[in-house]
Amino acid sequence: MSDTVYEQIGVERLTGAMGAVISGVDLAQELSAAQFAEIRSALFEFGAICFRDQKLDFAQHAAFARRFGTLEVHPIVNGMEDHPEIIKMHKPAGQAATFGTDWHTDNSFFEKPSLGSILYSEIVPPVGGDTLFSNQQLAYEKLSDGLKRTLEGMVAIHSAQEAYTSPSALEKYDSDGPISYRRSDIIHQTVEHPVVIQHPVTGKKALYVNSYFTRQFKGWSEAESRPLIEYLCDHGVRVDFQCRMRWEAGMVAMWDNRIVQHAALNDYEAYERLIYRITVNGDALQ
Ligand code: SIN
Repeated sequence: MSDTVYEQIGVERLTGAMGAVISGVDLAQELSAAQFAEIRSALFEFGAICFRDQKLDFAQHAAFARRFGTLEVHPIVNGMEDHPEIIKMHKPAGQAATFGTDWHTDNSFFEKPSLGSILYSEIVPPVGGDTLFSNQQLAYEKLSDGLKRTLEGMVAIHSAQEAYTSPSALEKYDSDGPISYRRSDIIHQTVEHPVVIQHPVTGKKALYVNSYFTRQFKGWSEAESRPLIEYLCDHGVRVDFQCRMRWEAGMVAMWDNRIVQHAALNDYEAYERLIYRITVNGDALQ
């Protein structure tokens, strides 16, 4: 059951765990304060939301994203030349997908990890290329009381060093391929975040550990940390915590990066997919 009454927008839940399809809004138009407030509440309540049958140009896409905060220019993944805040996620037919294909939380190696991303699809495969999301508030809730007590107050160290020096990442530096990376010292920095965070608006607790960037627990050795990180990462993406978005051309999807992990499926090699992505800057996590 939904905690909130929605009067300005339609809300249809995707699964028992999370996710919703929002209807009754045209994101190309300026949203009223009341419409925007309900969309934001739905994002925080369901973790990931999508809107069908939208038509956005770059300015409209960015204007919608700016309602949530300032826009990120990714320090490593190149944005478009004329719109550095927009990443063109283009996968040509005949190539395997490589961007975001394993479960992760975006940019947890930042001091202030991203609030969330807004994707707009132009070309989608006839089948495949869905995006999966997993609810990290539910993942926290479903831990035993004993493990919750252990995790309380624990801090994890996050770094992008491994993720951005993997063989597949190295190939993309300075390439003129569909998605290219540039070198940045940020990959060598380590940052600390609580293992259990509180949502800055709702106050709900969520597990905040992901296999791309969480390296070890503060005060623990890497060897001691690894089994528990692995356990929490596996637990965090249990099928009963998930929803799955099937793309249509002209769809907008957004997730709250503090409370969900996501993964893009790599199961449509024969087909082209073109999605534009804008990410909203977040705040330090508590
Ligand atoms: C991502 O932003 O991590 C990839 C999402 C997608 O391509 O579905």
